[in-house]
Amino acid sequence: MKGTKGFALLLLSGAMILFALTACGKDFRSLDDIRKSGELIMLTNATFEPFEYVSGGEVVGADKDLAQMIADELGVELRIVDMDFDLLVEALKSGKGDLIAAGMTANPERAEQVDFSSVYVKNGLLIIVPADSEIRSGADLAGKRVSVQEATTSDDFATNEVEGAEVLRFKDAVAVGDAVQNGKADAAVLDIKPAEGVVANSGGRLALLPDPVTQEDTSMAVAKGNAELLAVVNKVLDAAVADGTVDALIQEHMDATTGAE
Ligand code: ARG
Repeated sequence: MKGTKGFALLLLSGAMILFALTACGKDFRSLDDIRKSGELIMLTNATFEPFEYVSGGEVVGADKDLAQMIADELGVELRIVDMDFDLLVEALKSGKGDLIAAGMTANPERAEQVDFSSVYVKNGLLIIVPADSEIRSGADLAGKRVSVQEATTSDDFATNEVEGAEVLRFKDAVAVGDAVQNGKADAAVLDIKPAEGVVANSGGRLALLPDPVTQEDTSMAVAKGNAELLAVVNKVLDAAVADGTVDALIQEHMDATTGAE
């Protein structure tokens, strides 16, 4: 009797140790793994000019250029996997890619699930309205139809900070501005640079409210605990921020997407 019990306990603790090991087991590739495979895999949602967008059938943008610099630093090719924004964190966690580069805001909820890099862009959210709108401030959004990209910080803002808004959620950030253009929404909430681009391309039909309604930090993300890769990402990003490369890339892609010289 005693023996059986002891054996059962032993089995149980064995199973628990195994469980704990797999639960803490790393779900990411080491730098060695990445170098051996010959490619760094970037996860993104390419609907977000100037950070990532599709041009000529390819994903381009400031994030792509920065991820390319990280791949170059590692001596590997860059592969890009484009997916819905709301799937990015899970995809990273389950090892479908090595890093997220998606104009992503480093916020505490996400930081529980992924590790964020240095901040490479100081960001915030802007409100886009029809040029003739009576909406003058975030407070005026109360009870209005507000378009956002699903699972973004804009979604959080419209859902949690705006009284009685009817939140229209789109998978695609391009559709967010379109909804205001075609009268389906009274306003859109979008990150600063993408919002500036949408308004610049609206032929005067849309306008921006001047003050950002939030202040946010844009970072890349790696799997929790992937300190090795994070160190390389930070090295490249910190240098690119310091020498003006990040600003120049954003400007280059703003010009390319808004038709400016
Ligand atoms: N900064 C916002 C967020 O992190 C929006 C990012 C959207 N990015 C994109 N590639 N669509 O929630």
